[in-house]
Amino acid sequence: METGAAPIPAALPYFVAFSQLLGLTVVAVTGAWLGLYRGGVAWESALQFNVHPLCMVIGLVFLQGDALLVYRVFRNEAKRTTKVLHGLLHVFALVIALVGLVAVFDYHKKKGYADLYSLHSWCGILVFVLYFVQGRLQ
Ligand code: HEM
Repeated sequence: METGAAPIPAALPYFVAFSQLLGLTVVAVTGAWLGLYRGGVAWESALQFNVHPLCMVIGLVFLQGDALLVYRVFRNEAKRTTKVLHGLLHVFALVIALVGLVAVFDYHKKKGYADLYSLHSWCGILVFVLYFVQGRLQ
């Protein structure tokens, strides 16, 4: 009998659980590294730099990853509901990532360091450009 519901691959719940465990571990390990070995995070002083890795990992790795998973995990929910959740996760991801980006540029400015002197920084800019291009294409 046709129920209209898309079949859920048997292994999907395990892959999703694994992805969440991995994502939360990455966030926890980054937080532990910054808290235990780099003095924590703050908007003032040298600790402002530490906001950068933490926000990038939470925003662009964990939350953006989850935003992409929404349509697969909740494949039988109303499209409108999954669209809202997908959009909200992307907005949170973007806001947190922008805070992380502002943190590193502001930290460099206060210290008098040059901007965009590394391959990492240019790859980072490319990540943001592609993120916005992708958003425009949808
Ligand atoms: C998707 C994630 C990330 C993006 C898009 C990104 C982007 C950027 C950008 C654009 C800069 C240049 C800032 C400036 O020139 O003033 C930068 C600097 C920096 N980032 Fe990231 N970043 C990310 C993740 C990380 C992580 C996880 C770490 C550390 C574990 C990190 C460490 C650094 C360091 C040390 C600098 C300063 C030195 C440099 O410019 O290369 N970043 N990042």
